[in-house]
Amino acid sequence: MTKETHILERPPEGAAADWTIPQQWERYTAEEHATWDRLFARQAKLLPGRASQAYLRGLEALELSKSGIPDFEELSERLMKLTGWRVVAVPGLVPDDVFFDHMANRRFVAGNFIRRADQLDYIQEPDVFHDVFGHVPMLADPVFADYLEAYGRGGMRALDLGALKQLGRLYWYTVEFGLVREAGGLRIYGSGIVSSFGESLFALDDPSPNRIGFDMRRVMRTEYRIDDFQQNYFVIPSFEELLRQTVETDFAPLYEEILPLPDIPVAAILPGDAVITRGTQEYAKGRA
Ligand code: PHE
Ligand code: FE
Repeated sequence: MTKETHILERPPEGAAADWTIPQQWERYTAEEHATWDRLFARQAKLLPGRASQAYLRGLEALELSKSGIPDFEELSERLMKLTGWRVVAVPGLVPDDVFFDHMANRRFVAGNFIRRADQLDYIQEPDVFHDVFGHVPMLADPVFADYLEAYGRGGMRALDLGALKQLGRLYWYTVEFGLVREAGGLRIYGSGIVSSFGESLFALDDPSPNRIGFDMRRVMRTEYRIDDFQQNYFVIPSFEELLRQTVETDFAPLYEEILPLPDIPVAAILPGDAVITRGTQEYAKGRA
């Protein structure tokens, strides 16, 4: 789940005051479970050696390889024992403050619908495969679990400080599209990457995108694309370091410092960047 635009202001019919709805697991059809299984099999084959250790450990610990769309109740029980997080269903996108409040209380909001069988490669709205396969394994990691809870609290603050766009970019370039450096080389952990067949290959192997060392101010000023592969990935040295930097930094003065500065276009490389790969941007040029 990412937070972009929100159409509704109040919870729709059948949703609770906190916007949650029953997952209604028993309503999934055999075809829908089969779509999950196909997506799962394809990613599970691709991810060893590409996804971070933390992600792969989470996938294992949560038994997501069981056939069919996971039952959120059952999944939450396992996750609760590991890191105290739960997974709750919501009807698509929810308002920012609702999203942040759930997160700050260790509840991960997930869509309960699954993409159609002819949409295996791409969907615009996050479905249960993106939300659960993409996000939930990282929540089984104690450090990342703390990061996301802190992010939820940070979201409330950013709303007050008028810096939602800046904080949202941090989410985008870590939680959704982050890379991490491990002993074996670069690895993917962002949910938007690990849940996508094409981007799991592209993010690590393609000569097109830039890969740049993570820098908080830089990331918060950088635009992103929501409709195609990224032109820019940021690499964190470790999850501990990401947690340390974000929790120890008071973002209020940081926002004040960067809010007047211009946004950085997606493919730009700046003099101060720790460039890991200078991308050719061939892919993006071909799509323009
Ligand atoms: N330290 C941030 C603040 O002062 C909160 C935060 C923590 C944001 C972790 C993101 C991730 O607002
Ligand atoms: Fe997401």
